[in-house]
Amino acid sequence: MNPTRAEIDFKKLENNFYKIKSFVNRTKPKNPVKICAVIKANAYGHGIQEMSKKFIQLGADYLGVANYDEAIKLRSVVPDASILVFGTLIHSRFKPETYVSKLIKYDLIATVASLETARFLDYYSGILRKKFKVHIKVDTGMRRIGFDVKRALKNISQVFKYKNLEIEGIYTHFATAESPDKSFLKMQVSKFLELIYCLKKAGMEFPIVHSANSGAVLNFPESYFDMVRPGLILYGYYPSHDMKKVIDVKPVMNLKSKVTYIKRVDSNISISYGRTFYTKKRTFIGSIPVGYGDGYWRILSNKGKVLIKGNYYPVVGIITMDWLMVDLGVGSNVRVGDDVLLFGDENKALLGADKIAAMTKSIPYEIISSVADRVQRIYLHK
Ligand SMILES: Cc1ncc(COP(=O)(O)O)c(C=O)c1O
Repeated sequence: MNPTRAEIDFKKLENNFYKIKSFVNRTKPKNPVKICAVIKANAYGHGIQEMSKKFIQLGADYLGVANYDEAIKLRSVVPDASILVFGTLIHSRFKPETYVSKLIKYDLIATVASLETARFLDYYSGILRKKFKVHIKVDTGMRRIGFDVKRALKNISQVFKYKNLEIEGIYTHFATAESPDKSFLKMQVSKFLELIYCLKKAGMEFPIVHSANSGAVLNFPESYFDMVRPGLILYGYYPSHDMKKVIDVKPVMNLKSKVTYIKRVDSNISISYGRTFYTKKRTFIGSIPVGYGDGYWRILSNKGKVLIKGNYYPVVGIITMDWLMVDLGVGSNVRVGDDVLLFGDENKALLGADKIAAMTKSIPYEIISSVADRVQRIYLHK
């Protein structure tokens, strides 16, 4: 079996989940703030099916996915979960009636971000004689999808006229929640609040109002409303470097492999494609069967480091699709078969996806969600 694997520790996940849950309920509100565990993009690389089962077991109230394909995949593993689809529909889909009936059969919760979607879902729900549960999306500043907050009162009043929709929620999404400068976040929350107030005055109420992603969970309690939607912090990382770490979460995934081949090379010998690295003296080079095809980025060539038996070794030469090479030096105790940590949190290693992100001018989101499908996921403490 290929030794490259992502070890996913459910004990750490459990710890992160409960810490977040008690943090958002620290003021003991009358109704506890619900948690929508965000599991889009294969649960940020952790494996959508296993993670969704675990989140439901831990007590997540909703699961948030990016699109309908992700949601459909989940239904058989979490038959009773409330699955909210953040994405929107392409209405010209071939045989829309068949498609919408599938979404209804799977009991998914749709995002309505335009009148066309409302009309489309209402029309087919009418034909199928089953109400479609929806959450309305409002754009308060992200400029991705959603009813522009300026015209939202008028448009949402229109949505309320569609009688085959069950309007369960309303939400918005933040553009700068992780920033120490809260001015834009505050502006988004206040526009959202004002809209909710006006809608209420006009007789439109929503059982679930929500807005907070990880940054807002940590940064801005005024954004919690009835439910929060954390993603990244559940997996143990913080959305920005300078974010105050008000709760202690731990990385859930360790990307690992094994030293598979060791060779002695002389001084001034080039390593890998393109000959970008030459040995400075006689040394030992270890080859590890992980590469950019597994999600260990090529940009880490001659830059990355890995942890073997408690010591860091530099990645030398160009990272290939399936292999990378490290310089073990002379006299190291590393042997074929030894475990290699590529990123994660083990024995206090300073090798989190946030460190890899800093080396590659990326963000931890991108590092963890890049772990390829071919990498086996192993769930610990299941
Ligand atoms: C609509 C929505 N809500 C919540 C989240 C979770 O964000 P984060 O991972 O920053 O907590 C995302 C992810 O980007 C999202 O798209």
